[in-house]
Amino acid sequence: MGSLASLAEPGLGVNACVDRLKRYHYALQRTWRLLLARLTAEPIYELKMAWSLHAHLAAEHVSSLRERVAEMRHPPLGLEKIPHEGLRLLFDEIQAAPTAADLIHGLYAVALPALRAACAEHLAETNRLADAPTCRLLKFALLELDEMLEWGEAALASGLPVALPPRGGAEWTALLQQCLAAAGGLSGAAEAAGEVPGPHFSAGPWKYDKVPQRDGRFPDPYNMGVHAEAFLYDEHFPARAKTLMMYYKRLREIDVPEMMASILTEMGDKPWGFYRDLTRQLWDEARHAMMGEVGFVAQGIDWSRYVMVNFTWSKGLNEQLTPQERHAVLWFIEQGLMNKTGKRFEWEVGTASGDVLAELFQDYDWADEVLHARIGRDWFVKDFDNDPHRAAAYGSACWSKVVSDWEQLRRDGLTEHRNWWPGLYGEFCRVRGETPDPAVLAFATTYEETRADLNRISASG
Ligand SMILES: [Fe+2]
Ligand SMILES: [Fe+2]
Repeated sequence: MGSLASLAEPGLGVNACVDRLKRYHYALQRTWRLLLARLTAEPIYELKMAWSLHAHLAAEHVSSLRERVAEMRHPPLGLEKIPHEGLRLLFDEIQAAPTAADLIHGLYAVALPALRAACAEHLAETNRLADAPTCRLLKFALLELDEMLEWGEAALASGLPVALPPRGGAEWTALLQQCLAAAGGLSGAAEAAGEVPGPHFSAGPWKYDKVPQRDGRFPDPYNMGVHAEAFLYDEHFPARAKTLMMYYKRLREIDVPEMMASILTEMGDKPWGFYRDLTRQLWDEARHAMMGEVGFVAQGIDWSRYVMVNFTWSKGLNEQLTPQERHAVLWFIEQGLMNKTGKRFEWEVGTASGDVLAELFQDYDWADEVLHARIGRDWFVKDFDNDPHRAAAYGSACWSKVVSDWEQLRRDGLTEHRNWWPGLYGEFCRVRGETPDPAVLAFATTYEETRADLNRISASG
């Protein structure tokens, strides 16, 4: 905590402390919001995943800051008030950044370093005895801000800005710095210098893009040629081969953050706890996708050559349903995962397979799903007088509203619904030096069969 002499030095008063905390809160809430708003239409897989995590971290610190402000004689909290026009423009500009490289530069090389510096300065200036609860919160925030900044630095040092050059340039960076200077720095503790500049990228109205995009590792995103569940629930097939199908199912969960981000972006006027909990769930679903990716890597399989991961679910829901209806579908699908053909079954398959990684991943996947069921009860079923039957009927009705004409997709030349399973299983056997089991290799279903089953078994989760 510090020496007695240092504790005897006065520091920031309650009002000054709260003013600064509200600015950190604003910066983190804008960070959370803009990362979610950008991840669906961002094609690059690693960016979708990183932004899912960073949105979650930002949301957690937003929650801590809200709680701390509420402790400091501050009802009404005034947390929705924009603390300074300069800060508003700073984040409006980053949110409207035309390329991912601009966004990463603006957020991770300008805004978040300013937030980090403000938190560190606050920690140095406040009285560590009188304001100990704030110090604790700031220490945790610094830990995770450093992780975010490290990621941003690595992203900017990677091939990304070379492949997709930023358009902002030095002038745009200067504009962002002017925003901060006019606001007296992120904390407002510095002397305000200069005027808030005019907008650049954010000059026009901002338009949210909720249509999912994927990068080159997803070459056939309309493919519905493999009915994963039909394979998984067929007791004639061996558990070891089923782990491959489970890794595919996990990786396919990339569509859940793509869809949930649109709920969080478009659904206004909910209590903060709703956004916090759903953002945690969004990050869990991104983790599930990465578990699939890691599973394939562990098998020595380059998944992007063998597995066709579709985006038809997130695309259909985002384009055809309201945010409330999307939330209903999500809950409807997830509550279906709690029965004995759901998460427990997948864990049992992992256990029986001898693939300890599959067992471990399914163990945590199941645990996460129990949490998601709780989140669904808190934020969805509650709106149906806590009646899960009525909630499920509504979710089912919303789900059946989504039109997906797979035959039309084929006629339009978007996909051939190719059966990629034999290629994946063949590669798995080749890597292991094993002879393929003819029955497993021959597994094939039509997309009509998949479609007929979709209401019974979830596409995602
Ligand atoms: Fe889930
Ligand atoms: Fe999941």
